Amino acid sequence: MAIPLIIDTDPGVDDAFAIALAARSPEVKLVGLTTVFGNVGLELTTRNALRLLAYLGRAEVPVVEGFEGPAGAADVHGEDGLGGQAHTLPDNEKGVYGDDPVRFFADNLGPRTVVAAIGPLTNIAAVLDAGIEIPRLIVMGGGLGLGNTTERAEFNFWADPEAAQTVIRRGKPLIVPLNLTHRCIADAEFLSRIDPVLSNLTGTYRAYLADRSENQGIYVHDAVAVAEAIVPGTLKTRTHLLDVDDDGALVEGNHQVEVAEDTDWPALRAFMEQRLSG
Ligand code: BDR
Ligand code: CA
Repeated sequence: MAIPLIIDTDPGVDDAFAIALAARSPEVKLVGLTTVFGNVGLELTTRNALRLLAYLGRAEVPVVEGFEGPAGAADVHGEDGLGGQAHTLPDNEKGVYGDDPVRFFADNLGPRTVVAAIGPLTNIAAVLDAGIEIPRLIVMGGGLGLGNTTERAEFNFWADPEAAQTVIRRGKPLIVPLNLTHRCIADAEFLSRIDPVLSNLTGTYRAYLADRSENQGIYVHDAVAVAEAIVPGTLKTRTHLLDVDDDGALVEGNHQVEVAEDTDWPALRAFMEQRLSG
């Protein structure tokens, strides 16, 4: 039986890849997307989530609009969150299903439901604060001694450190940190082989990384986390004792957290390439 999956997301180019991976994987049943501010503001992340589902032929999947906030990574993901190419995706006639993620989780979480949180953790912290237990929570976020927004803070944790603290301290997450996702690069060859509508979203991101590194592709951070929801065991994990500081950096602490440390990237890359080819 397919694994029920809710994705909490701020699309976002790598979020788009993660959503497409889930939408095209029969191992999971996409129960809904909850949106959050992050890479761009909430109105755009919600619109992008709706459009992506419409493009993927999955307009029936409900989209619930969550929390707004101040962060932004338009320099990486483009002003519209999808490399200036959101307009290439169709409108979704369904519109948003609701604007209360806590209610949506309360109504839709079952004992087998997996939640992949691939944006700032504001919605997820609100769900935990409401006393709702998430049976399996996979989070893309954090870095062990490594950041991508400040020297020590990863974007999703930095965007709402208090929410990241709640999740690390009380959410029993499996986290997928930068240390692993920085090894998971969709390079030019990969991007030339997948659905051209998806690879067309990556221009701004590729240019941003090419300006700063030898990287000729994009990091598929969020898709790595969602791959673990689709095929459990894809990521090799180890338990660490961690916390999050007030600036959003993952630090040593007292909370047991499962951390994804390794994967067979050639195999995962082949899996993603096949699923994202349409
Ligand atoms: C995370 O931040 C966002 O920019 C990406 O979508 C990903 O979720 C990587 O740090
Ligand atoms: Ca994201």
